[in-house]
Amino acid sequence: MQPIISIRGLSKTYDSGFSALKNIDLEIAPGEIFALLGPNGAGKTTLINVICGIVSPSTGQVMADGHDIVTDFRAARSRIGLVPQELTTDAFETVWATVSFSRGLFGKPKNPAHIEKVLKDLSLWDKRSNMIMTLSGGMKRRVMIAKALSHEPQILFLDEPTAGVDVELRRSMWEVVRSLRAHGVTIILTTHYLEEAEEMADRIGVINQGEIILVENKAELMSKLGEKRLTLQLQDRIDTLPSMLAPHELELAADGDALVYTYNANDKRTGINTLFRDLDAAGIRLRDVDTKQSSLEEIFVGLVRQDT
Ligand SMILES: Nc1ncnc2c1ncn2[C@@H]1O[C@H](COP(=O)(O)OP(=O)(O)OP(=O)(O)O)[C@@H](O)[C@H]1O
Ligand SMILES: [Mg+2]
Repeated sequence: MQPIISIRGLSKTYDSGFSALKNIDLEIAPGEIFALLGPNGAGKTTLINVICGIVSPSTGQVMADGHDIVTDFRAARSRIGLVPQELTTDAFETVWATVSFSRGLFGKPKNPAHIEKVLKDLSLWDKRSNMIMTLSGGMKRRVMIAKALSHEPQILFLDEPTAGVDVELRRSMWEVVRSLRAHGVTIILTTHYLEEAEEMADRIGVINQGEIILVENKAELMSKLGEKRLTLQLQDRIDTLPSMLAPHELELAADGDALVYTYNANDKRTGINTLFRDLDAAGIRLRDVDTKQSSLEEIFVGLVRQDT
């Protein structure tokens, strides 16, 4: 399938001489939810701002739905909705006016039914006549999303959409994102909440110091890199590990009632069989066992650390 966004050899060096993006190649498929992860200053916002025409690229090419974002800017931009990281709204406007006005900026004819639907989907309908300055932070963020959707874009960028949003509201925003995707909108989001990427994304890209260091299907990423931890609850506490168990590199829990064994589930030999044999030989009796897959967070921290 033709990618809806295609980025080739994209670099950005700011006027200060700082190189914020280094030779980025990335394709986004229509209808996917792509999460871009990376530490502060990695280049996430710069990348989004280049695609949305706010920051000019230094080298490389970006196509949005077949339109070059530099030479065919208006056509490219009309396909894109952007919810920026920084909240900027006209404090003295009403919700309805500001969202309707945004649509007009893209030269689209008025469509009150669409604006109504967007406001209802974002639970802002009751607030439509309120001035923006009277809304809470989370509501303002939803107004930003409503503005970004006002001109019916096929591609939506959400730059940290749920920063500072409470858990309940975050979940309801995930619902909104999912329903947008169900209507065929392609979504690219950045987040610091790994839980969010884990929950939402089809694919995950990790960016660090201006370079994309990994792009992977979420499920594959989690199983490929995922370490597992096997926790063995002991029948009887122990103070020290029997020396014959040393080769297994077990961790003894602080209160001596559990052992933790870390392994990679994809290895041909996980060492679990010999571990159990040696535990038995050492006379250690188990009360319970439990295994846990690494979270995306652990994987991510490991990746970024390796890279620096
Ligand atoms: N206008 C600018 N001029 C010079 N340097 C800039 C400019 N804008 C951003 N940078 C630098 O580019 C780098 C990437 O910034 P960017 O905002 O893209 O990071 P980010 O990944 O979005 O970070 P965060 O998670 O904090 O939002 C940072 O080192 C930043 O200081
Ligand atoms: Mg940012």
